[in-house]
Formats: sequence, C-alpha cells, structure tokens
Amino acid sequence: MLPRVGTVDDPLRLAVLISGGGSGLAALLTHQEVAARLHRTVLVVADGDAGGLEHGRGLGIPSKTISLPNVSDKVEQRLAHEALVLAELEAAEIECVVLSGYMRILTPSFVKRWKGRLVNIHPSLLPKYPGAHAHRDALADGAKVSGCTVHLVNEGVDSGYILAAEEVPVLDGDSEEDLQERVKKVEQILYPEVLDQLAAGAFSV
Ligand code: GRF
Repeated sequence: MLPRVGTVDDPLRLAVLISGGGSGLAALLTHQEVAARLHRTVLVVADGDAGGLEHGRGLGIPSKTISLPNVSDKVEQRLAHEALVLAELEAAEIECVVLSGYMRILTPSFVKRWKGRLVNIHPSLLPKYPGAHAHRDALADGAKVSGCTVHLVNEGVDSGYILAAEEVPVLDGDSEEDLQERVKKVEQILYPEVLDQLAAGAFSV
C-alpha cells in the first residue's frame, strides 16, 4: 500500500531515519522549507549519536537517538530496537518512513508493517553494488558510470521496487570520497523529487 496522497494543507507526515552526517536529510529539509510541499518531516530518528540530528533540531523538528537496547541476543536486540522505533513512529503518526543513510538492516516484520511506505536511497545503480560499500565496489570493478537509486524497501537488501535512479560518472583517479561526494550531490536533488512524486500519488506499484 503506497502512502496517502498529501496536500499542502495536510502534507504527508515523514520520519527520516539516519545514522551519520545527514547531508541527505539536510537537503530534504531545505527542499521542504523553500516551497510548499505535499510532505513534511515531523520526526528524525538516529540509531546512535548521529551528527545529522542537528539538522532537525535546528528547525525545531523532534530529533532523537534510539540506541540499540542492551540485549545480548542479537536477534532479540534488533527486535527490541525496532519496537522502540515503531513506538516513536506511531506516537508521531508517521505516514511514510524515509531511510537516508540509515545503516541498519530492518527485520522482515518491520518491512512488512511499512511496506509501500518505507523508502531508501542507495548510492549505486541497483541492482549493481548493493550493500554497505557501493563506491568501493564500483571503483574496484572499474565502473565508468555509477549513480544513485531510490527504491521501496522490501525484505531483501537494497532490492525493492525501484522508483527512480540517476547516473553519475566515475572519473579516472576517483577516490571513494570523490565518488561519494559526486553521487551525494545527485542524491540530494533526486530524493526530494521522488518524495514529491510519492506524496503526490504519482507512482502506481
Ligand atoms: C548516502 O550516500 C546514502 O546513499 C548512503 O549513505 C550516505 C549517507 O550520507 N546510504 P548522509 O548521512 O545523508 O550524509
């Protein structure tokens, strides 16, 4: 089930999940600030003390760390963590969850609960180079073109229905950082555009 179609008067309520610096979150918040949109970020959640939380706090958006509970069993720990995240999402009446540099793999039960309303951006042209080292893998492969992909999250890793993708050239001598920065610039335009379309009901999956 795809998200409700938002309106300017009743924009789709987004939660953005991050793990790092949140440059993607910052770009989305700017996009939402500069013009009336059909979506707005009403909650930011990080799985640790992520620097990106400041982007939400600076705009008065509830921005919180939900750390992994101190549970020895890894499966139990993941489930307990997701239960805490889910409680926050429900309390904030979230309608769509946006993963933006969120480095945790979500369990099938979480994905099932949010399927169709759970979006991710990955810094490669999926299905190429899934996983946590896309730029390293693309460079090691000698790729001349990489890019970024926005997709609905399913039970696999970086394998859900693709909503949009954009190519980014790989230049001779690129380091991982060079490629990451070039891709991030494209991500920061593509992701807000796709969220505009998603909130407008432009996709029929
Ligand atoms: C982005 O390139 C995203 O595609 C990847 O991790 C990076 C997160 O960067 N999953 P930031 O935290 O948004 O700056």
